[in-house]
Amino acid sequence: MFFWALLLIAFTASYLSFQSFVEYRSRYFTSSCSAIQWENQVRNSGHIHRSSGMSVLVTGAAGFVGSHVSLALKKRGDGVVGLDNFNNYYDPSLKKARNLLLNSHRIFVVEGDLNDAKLLAKLFDAVAFTHVMHLAAQAGVRYAMENPNSYVQSNIAGLVTLLEACKSANPQPAVVWASSSSVYGLNEKIPFSEADWTDQPASLYAATKKAGEEITHTYNHIYGLSITGLRFFTVYGPWGRPDMAYFSFTRNILQGKPITIFRGKNQGDLARDFTYIDDIVKGCLGSLDTSGTSTGSGGKKRGPAPYRIFNLGNTSPVRVTELVNILERHLKLKAKRNIVDMPGNGDVPFTHANISLAEKELGFEPITDLQTGLNKFVRWYLSYYGYNNRNAVE
Ligand SMILES: *[C@@H]1O[C@H](CO)[C@@H](O)[C@H](O)[C@H]1NC(C)=O
Repeated sequence: MFFWALLLIAFTASYLSFQSFVEYRSRYFTSSCSAIQWENQVRNSGHIHRSSGMSVLVTGAAGFVGSHVSLALKKRGDGVVGLDNFNNYYDPSLKKARNLLLNSHRIFVVEGDLNDAKLLAKLFDAVAFTHVMHLAAQAGVRYAMENPNSYVQSNIAGLVTLLEACKSANPQPAVVWASSSSVYGLNEKIPFSEADWTDQPASLYAATKKAGEEITHTYNHIYGLSITGLRFFTVYGPWGRPDMAYFSFTRNILQGKPITIFRGKNQGDLARDFTYIDDIVKGCLGSLDTSGTSTGSGGKKRGPAPYRIFNLGNTSPVRVTELVNILERHLKLKAKRNIVDMPGNGDVPFTHANISLAEKELGFEPITDLQTGLNKFVRWYLSYYGYNNRNAVE
């Protein structure tokens, strides 16, 4: 009896270990195989196809500005690897559609989070990035009242995790990143110049972007990272962000729904220095091209590295009511305007960029006026959401 029991145990044990061996083998095999495949995809995507080209890690690559910059870099022969967490702050299907567009141009976008230090280290192991174009962020001014921590998580914690990876990388990349015109906050001196004080943020979003300017400065100072911060002024265009006014106005006008237009102090109209995406892309590429190099290695600074900040705007603010007039003309529909006083939710009454520094240093020259840019946006919107056959989408 005892003998049989022993035999049964021995037999079961060897059977189980054989089973787990098979499972272990196959699991190990598939994971190492897909790890190699993953690394090949990253390497191929980051491969440079022109002489003295660059290899760029683009964070937020499935985002609005990120997807446009990625395509422009790839088109001129630079290597591009994207990183995006595809979060649902706005409709993720738009991010997935941008991703498909990037894939069709042989750009690989890694799905992952900025705060994943191990993932960042793996990416830098796979490709010796010459540049990082850091566009991933929690955007939007009003959403900060709903979810303040997402701004800290992306714009501060995520930024530091990325800068840590950059300072440890060998060679260190040059970093170009998206700050924001919102750092000018409640300033009244116009146009806004880079040398102006930026200590009156009106929103948590602005405060995290301002913090980013200070944080990147310390990494420049201590570790020799080349840093360029870009203060974008209300970027708009095809594949744009659905949470922005021009986008939601277009949707509501097409659906016959009212739009809410904020009115500033003393009945004044709000105005924005709307900047077309193609102009912004040129500013981003100009920044990468003139970034200079980081000087650190092994995490130690070897000499001073560039630290730059530029306004990228259009220099011609347009009132939001005029934006609506233009949309009405392009859509051949009347908007139902609901005009209300601006609530104290972080919006500022106007923005106006002084871009003479970017003109001088980057050759930045915006050429698209709002009329022309919105025409391109509306044409994209109608075709993307299938309005040509008049099938309402949402
Ligand atoms: C614009 O900025 C430059 C510095 O980049 C400054 O010299 C110039 O005075 C500014 N112009 C205005 C009108 O503020």
